[in-house]
Amino acid sequence: MEFAVEVEILARVRHKNLLSLRGYCAEGQERLIVYDYMPNLSLLSHLHGQHSAECFLDWDRRMNIAIGSAEGVAYLHHHATPHIIHRDIKASNVLLDSDFEAQVADFGFAKLIPDGATHVTTRVKGTLGYLAPEYAMLGKASESCDVYSFGILLLELASGRKPIEKLSPTMKRTITDWALPLACQRKFSELADRKLNGKFVEEELKRVIFVSLICAHGRPEKRPTMLEVVELLKGESKEKLADLENDELFNDFNDGLSGADDSSEFISEEKDSLQEVKKVEPGTEKANLN
Ligand SMILES: Nc1ncnc2c1ncn2[C@@H]1O[C@H](COP(=O)(O)OP(=O)(O)OP(=O)(O)O)[C@@H](O)[C@H]1O
Ligand SMILES: [Mg+2]
Repeated sequence: MEFAVEVEILARVRHKNLLSLRGYCAEGQERLIVYDYMPNLSLLSHLHGQHSAECFLDWDRRMNIAIGSAEGVAYLHHHATPHIIHRDIKASNVLLDSDFEAQVADFGFAKLIPDGATHVTTRVKGTLGYLAPEYAMLGKASESCDVYSFGILLLELASGRKPIEKLSPTMKRTITDWALPLACQRKFSELADRKLNGKFVEEELKRVIFVSLICAHGRPEKRPTMLEVVELLKGESKEKLADLENDELFNDFNDGLSGADDSSEFISEEKDSLQEVKKVEPGTEKANLN
């Protein structure tokens, strides 16, 4: 099933930031999909995996990856017909080519959204730590679920932190719980990945942090569209950036926290219940909650 979905979606999309299909094979029991090999592997491998000690991701590359992957997802949401939601946006599904350009991959969970529909109700797929609360709870999949996951990915890219951090054997903290109070206090340098050694463009970091947190808002109606995300990340509209910075999420600390808490608390509960069943490492497990 995932094979058929992946081939169907890949045949429909062509964009510089989406990993394209080279070919496929479905013969007897054999199922093969051929893609270009991405020599710099995934974002995950640079942030938390085998390349993490090497620090290939300087600030310019991170900014380019943020904008490129946003453009890839914006294409799926706004330019593909019918519109496509990815449903598994995360660091291991953003691959990096030889120039460190982002290529969003893995369309096995993607859904086509029929014209005029606002969402589809579906079995929940995706990866814990990246799941929008309304999707995890009600199975309502829409573009804004991808926006939520993209927000978590952006925060991870800027901070080098994992979506869910284990503080102790019994305590976990989501990346939004960690980042929102710091963003409200405008402590941007504390939010930046230590591996950057303070080498980042403050204005751009600020933009990435505000955009990531509004994308990962607990209430879907507060999240921007991916087209707005691209515009905001590129700094094309000073007015929209000012509006974003003045949003209550970043100014009324208690309100802000309650907005984010709603979602993260749920994700933690969901994760805990799943872990009882699956006993896998946080951040790597996949959810299939039905
Ligand atoms: N085209 C590719 N070129 C280079 N490396 C790739 C390519 N496709 C996948 N990979 C690497 O293989 C790893 C595993 O990919 P895969 O999609 O199977 O699992 P995953 O993304 O970790 O989890 P999930 O099954 O949830 O998507 C990726 O993290 C990436 O590093
Ligand atoms: Mg993958």
